[in-house]
Amino acid sequence: MEQVKDKFDRPLRDIRISLTDQCNFRCSYCMPAEIFGADYPFLPKEKYLTFAEIVRIVQAAAELGVEKIRLTGGEPLLRKHLSELVHDLYTKTSIKDIALTTNGVLLPKYATALKAAGLQRVNISMDALDDRVFKEMNGRAVGVKAVLKGIEAAKAAGLGIKINMVVKKGINDHQILPMAEHFKKEGIPLRFIEFMDVGSTNGWQLSSVVSKKEIIRLISSQFPIESVKGSYYGEVASRFQYQDGSGEFGVISSVTESFCSTCTRARVSADGKLYTCLFSAKGHDLKPVLRSSDSIKEVKEHIAAIWNQRIDRYSDERTEETAKNRPKIEMSYIGG
Ligand code: GTP
Ligand code: 5AD
Ligand code: SF4
Ligand code: SF4
Repeated sequence: MEQVKDKFDRPLRDIRISLTDQCNFRCSYCMPAEIFGADYPFLPKEKYLTFAEIVRIVQAAAELGVEKIRLTGGEPLLRKHLSELVHDLYTKTSIKDIALTTNGVLLPKYATALKAAGLQRVNISMDALDDRVFKEMNGRAVGVKAVLKGIEAAKAAGLGIKINMVVKKGINDHQILPMAEHFKKEGIPLRFIEFMDVGSTNGWQLSSVVSKKEIIRLISSQFPIESVKGSYYGEVASRFQYQDGSGEFGVISSVTESFCSTCTRARVSADGKLYTCLFSAKGHDLKPVLRSSDSIKEVKEHIAAIWNQRIDRYSDERTEETAKNRPKIEMSYIGG
């Protein structure tokens, strides 16, 4: 196995694969309902990569040093026969760290089969404990109970679980403490995520961001906490533990403390374009090389050549001006 590196010596370790650009939620920070309506041009399903093509990308990536696969979207549980893909990835590639990022509502239906197929962990989005706030944020009036049931199903299936909460000032920041308290009791790590300027439709403004510092100050006003060392190179969350031994939480601070210098992630859209940054404007189409031969070697060389040229560090460079004017791909398409 070789380890491919980019222009800043960052290894490629992690591939995030979007399985669909569609979702059953319309979170205001990701797919605002006014924009993602009935006439939104979602990808036609014929454009999706096949499972066999996804497996070949992962086989090639594994030979370049990738150790982790994250399946995402849109909402990945909307992709038909997802357990079969997980099973193929688990049995046909060397990568065993297979994770899924989901809004959780379909987990009662699929968690057991996914675990049996080889899925290890799920990161479940949940932005509030208060039903009114949660319904407003997900844009589809889905109640908190639906997600709590998904969390229960993941737990019962034996999957590892983390919770993601995107924090928007004036919208759900009053939910930080209730959420922290709830998941502290449950013993499930909750990660607070600074609202990011992904895509160009979510109306991002710096004034809507609640900073990592503010979040830490608030939690430590209620509970004694201490920081914990990251568990792997390039982890996006900074981690903290409650001093009473009841577990930990994290903060993902792409805006106020960016982490580009250790960014090891590539993203693949549902239609097979490779993006070297969450904030890229343009991807590299992998379909021609995937479809020109069955060889993994060519796919591997193609990905290595792209990664070798990589200079992305958007969050390090972010200003109000880049946030407004730089063209960026939508997060539901590229895969969070
Ligand atoms: P694990 O550490 O493996 O549990 O996963 P993760 O935190 O990488 O994945 P998850 O899908 O839960 O992402 C959590 C948040 O971090 C989301 O808001 C992502 O968009 C954000 N995130 C993940 N990777 C990056 C990145 O490379 N850059 C930026 N700016 N944000 C990222
Ligand atoms: N800023 C921060 N996080 C976001 N997510 C989606 N859009 C944004 C945004 N604009 C989060 C989701 C999910 C993860 C994949 O990304 O809540 O947990
Ligand atoms: Fe769907 Fe996740 Fe985007 Fe919300 S954040 S709209 S659940 S893809
Ligand atoms: Fe990586 Fe781009 Fe995120 Fe920086 S902004 S951490 S380079 S994906």
